[in-house]
Amino acid sequence: MATPNAKYLALVDELAEHDRRYYVDAAPTISDGEYDALLRHLRELEAAHPAWIVPWSPTQRVAPLPASGFTKVVRERPMLSLDNTYNPGELTAFVDRIVKTLGAEATVSYVVEPKIDGFGIELTYKEGLLALGTTRGDGTVGEDITSNLKTVQGVALRLREPVDITVRGEVYIAKAEFAKINEARAASGEELFKNPRNLAAGSIKLLDAREVAQRPMQTILYELVDGDAGITSHHASIARLATLGLPTNRHNALAHSLDELLAHVASWESRRDSLPYEIDGLVIKVDSYEQRAELGTTSKFPKWAIAYKFPARQVTTLVRELEINVGRTGAITPVAILEPVDVSGTTVSRVSLHNWDQVARLGIGAGDRVLIEKAGEIIPQVLGVTEASTQPRFVPPAACPTCGTALVREDEKVVLICPNRVGCPAQRLAAIEFFGSRGQLNIDGLGEKIVAAIIAAGYVRDVADLFALTVEQLEGLERFGKLSATNLVTAIAHARETATASRLLSALGIANVGGVVAGLIMKPYGKLSTLRNRVAATDREAMVAELCAIDGVGEVIAQSVDAFFRDPDSLEIVDKLISHGVDPAEPVKAAATGALSGQIFVITGTLSKPRAEVAADIEAAGGTVAGSVSKKTNYLVAGADTGKSKLDAATKHGTKVLDEAALGALIAGDVPQS
Ligand code: IVH
Repeated sequence: MATPNAKYLALVDELAEHDRRYYVDAAPTISDGEYDALLRHLRELEAAHPAWIVPWSPTQRVAPLPASGFTKVVRERPMLSLDNTYNPGELTAFVDRIVKTLGAEATVSYVVEPKIDGFGIELTYKEGLLALGTTRGDGTVGEDITSNLKTVQGVALRLREPVDITVRGEVYIAKAEFAKINEARAASGEELFKNPRNLAAGSIKLLDAREVAQRPMQTILYELVDGDAGITSHHASIARLATLGLPTNRHNALAHSLDELLAHVASWESRRDSLPYEIDGLVIKVDSYEQRAELGTTSKFPKWAIAYKFPARQVTTLVRELEINVGRTGAITPVAILEPVDVSGTTVSRVSLHNWDQVARLGIGAGDRVLIEKAGEIIPQVLGVTEASTQPRFVPPAACPTCGTALVREDEKVVLICPNRVGCPAQRLAAIEFFGSRGQLNIDGLGEKIVAAIIAAGYVRDVADLFALTVEQLEGLERFGKLSATNLVTAIAHARETATASRLLSALGIANVGGVVAGLIMKPYGKLSTLRNRVAATDREAMVAELCAIDGVGEVIAQSVDAFFRDPDSLEIVDKLISHGVDPAEPVKAAATGALSGQIFVITGTLSKPRAEVAADIEAAGGTVAGSVSKKTNYLVAGADTGKSKLDAATKHGTKVLDEAALGALIAGDVPQS
């Protein structure tokens, strides 16, 4: 065998250190480009000198050949499970038992750790090299999944010191990665994964390590089970693992009394969603090894640790019927109406099924029992049918349920559309309701029922007609008295006074033009009438190019805006608005300074409040909000149901992805979550 070249070994170490900084510390010190250049150099060296290759080289994470089934491994110390508690009373009883055994005079400290909802693993290092990685199996007998675990981000192939240790931890898939994978599967018509835990468990046991490497798994280690004799407490063992270069949880916290313990537990119920991975509870562990030994174990559980489980986020319930919704853009959306059920604190009685491909995939019908979930996301989802009824399965309608127009499927897209944009009463209603909603013109009192009533009375056909409504007209309607009629007319007048040009543009509901994009567009044009006249005076191609020249506005947005202002029906509404005096100017914003100064954000997905409000928060803190992710974007604020294309773009451009809570922390001046 050739003597490994010292420069080669140094390069291996250098890359391993960069991997650690990237995956474990979430604090890379070199750019992706620089990393790739180092890796390329390493590959060249290895291609030229195959005999030099060491098993801990970063190139050795993916085994070249498919594994042929997993070998069973019998372990010396069984991997125990944890007993569960579900409320402060049960947790108090756990602490009481400990105090009883150790004696009232003993000082007991506890470590509170997030209970990651993933897949338990055990790693054995010999002289600092990863020697074995196993599944939990039945506790005593696990399976050798070493080659697959090597592909997991954060699993060190070599520790910083040549020690013999055995550690346990959890392999998981982050929420954002999970959403991305399911989105891709939905797009290609594949069955969705039920939750990140199932996906992680399924992925780690794939037989081909090359396939495993495609699944973006991570790990956090939480127990040192063997080795490193000098250590006397759990928190010191975790610090030691971190020193050795292994990923540990920076959210672990020490508690020195029952009161402190209960306070930690209470604080996590709301912080839970701010983590980038799913947790199903907390694990509470006695810190001192000596006290652990005194407490001992039962055949199944250690007596020195317990799980504190959060309320379930997946429950089953019955489907009553299918509601067919006609949206403001004509999209025909299937909605399952459910037997109301409580999911982690909120009652769920209707769940969108998104599109008709999803309905077919689920094979869902009235009377079925379905599994629903409200995970870190705000919006509940149907995960699958657990018990089908004998009733017929739901199928897409052929005609619009409100206007009877034959439905069309836009080519290549899964969305079924009612093409009767202007005539369809449901679309008209939804468009007017949207116009007045919070985040748009914010017209108080313009709810769905009121909109339906003023349309039925023939007073309003489109959003512009709102500005001609009179108190006398409204007073004559069933739902109104003099006061409520006056209030609505006043609210409409107030909206006219306070509207900005960008709010007005986004309230018109042009495809792909939300509050943020509307702001970008109205900055150069200033008023709706100016933009309208500009489109009229410019040919299509030149207009699209002109719009595309605005930072943050791409081809799709530009086409959509151009098409809107050329469509005779929309133009009629725009002109009517202008003639009613609804043509406000866009205020000129002064550049703010603050925690987010100089940072560029893109906002996407469903958030707890309108995106325009989130944008205002960002701008108030000095940040800038753009419409689409580019290499200039620093952060993507991703809400529920964030699209795959946005996440892909973020990955491509190295943009950090934040959830709403992490954005809040950033605005407050905290360091972002890793
Ligand atoms: S300690 C004897 N710590 O939860 C100690 N487990 O329901 C047993 N888990 O099998 C494990 N996060 O897969 C521990 N911080 C954490 C954990 C954790 C998740 C999993 C683990 C275990 C299961 C028990």
